[in-house]
Amino acid sequence: MYLTNAEERILSGENGEVLERMFRLLVRLGEIYGADRMIPVSSSQVAGVSYKSIGDPGVEFLEDYAGKGASVKIVTFLNPAGMDIEDWQKLNVPADFAQKQLRIMDAFKRMGVVVSATCTPYLAGNLPRFREHIAWSESSAISFSNSVIGARTNREGGPSALAAALCGVTPNYGLHLDENRKAQVAVQVDAKLEDSADYGALGYVVGKQVKNRIPYFRGIKGADSDQLKALGASMAASGAVALYHVEDITPEAHLMDTKGLEMLSVNEKDLDETFSKLSTGKEADIVILGCPHSSLKEIMAVARKLEGKKLKKPLWICTSRMVKEAANRMGFTEVIESAGGKLVADTCMVVAPIEDMGYKTTAVNSGKAANYLPGFCKQSVVFARLDTIIERVT
Ligand code: F3S
Repeated sequence: MYLTNAEERILSGENGEVLERMFRLLVRLGEIYGADRMIPVSSSQVAGVSYKSIGDPGVEFLEDYAGKGASVKIVTFLNPAGMDIEDWQKLNVPADFAQKQLRIMDAFKRMGVVVSATCTPYLAGNLPRFREHIAWSESSAISFSNSVIGARTNREGGPSALAAALCGVTPNYGLHLDENRKAQVAVQVDAKLEDSADYGALGYVVGKQVKNRIPYFRGIKGADSDQLKALGASMAASGAVALYHVEDITPEAHLMDTKGLEMLSVNEKDLDETFSKLSTGKEADIVILGCPHSSLKEIMAVARKLEGKKLKKPLWICTSRMVKEAANRMGFTEVIESAGGKLVADTCMVVAPIEDMGYKTTAVNSGKAANYLPGFCKQSVVFARLDTIIERVT
């Protein structure tokens, strides 16, 4: 792998221990995956932020780096943390958990990271352009940026995204290269897709079948960006899909040659079966929406449905701090709170310690959350469309 003189000097430790270690990690990755050189990246998004995921070793690691003066070179956002950084007390997050989480956020802040903890950085002030190289590590954000925006990122882990943030580069391999962005399997969709939950169910089915490959969808008409984020998140969770194309919708779809590709098809029955399969519970103790983090449009839709109603169960809507600020200003938060719900920033149902807060069955409208909650949070799940969920709890 070709390295410039300046890069060789980083490797020899001339720029300090932290950069040497981080750059070494990037070089190692580049060698494993056959990269020819490093390329600059314009932004990073670092996963491994919740205390629930990284524990005490993670806190110590980050504080050690911050203490040694580590500082990011590019715009760097964080994945969701384990709690709303400002309102954690209102959500009854255990105090010892909160103290550790605050230390994590402080360490990132000292490194110059924007402590906006969200899986939708593109809705919160970190929007790459078409063909821009980035290093992101949350799977739904990776999928959205590659597929819907046409930016370029590999599936970074937390450490490699942090390394890219501190060094400003990433090894040139995988989805950074044109030849690795081609469709590998065609998917014909013959099903009515109306709600984001339908897209989540579709993503679950397709992810299971295409596993790590790049699907090309036909038959999806007029999906909006919220529905595409639901589709990509679910496919990333069930099949590690980092890039997909949708005929006439996503920006690289028209460049694809789909002749001779393996063909899959998905119909209404497949989606119905997925709703049943992922619904492992009956009566929800809590409803949590916003996986991936809600857009302002999604929050507005829920606020409208809750207007003048009272919730019989707790309801959280997870979003980024920036979108929550906009929702506050628009009065949506007030409507949601009057109904008994909460707009929760910086965290989500999967990385918050909901199992330690007494919840056993969670209702969601997200295919990804429905897939992850049993394993990550010991939850039974009610997976349904938004209208159905709201009807059941008002
Ligand atoms: Fe985001 Fe959490 Fe879902 S990180 S994609 S809301 S599991």
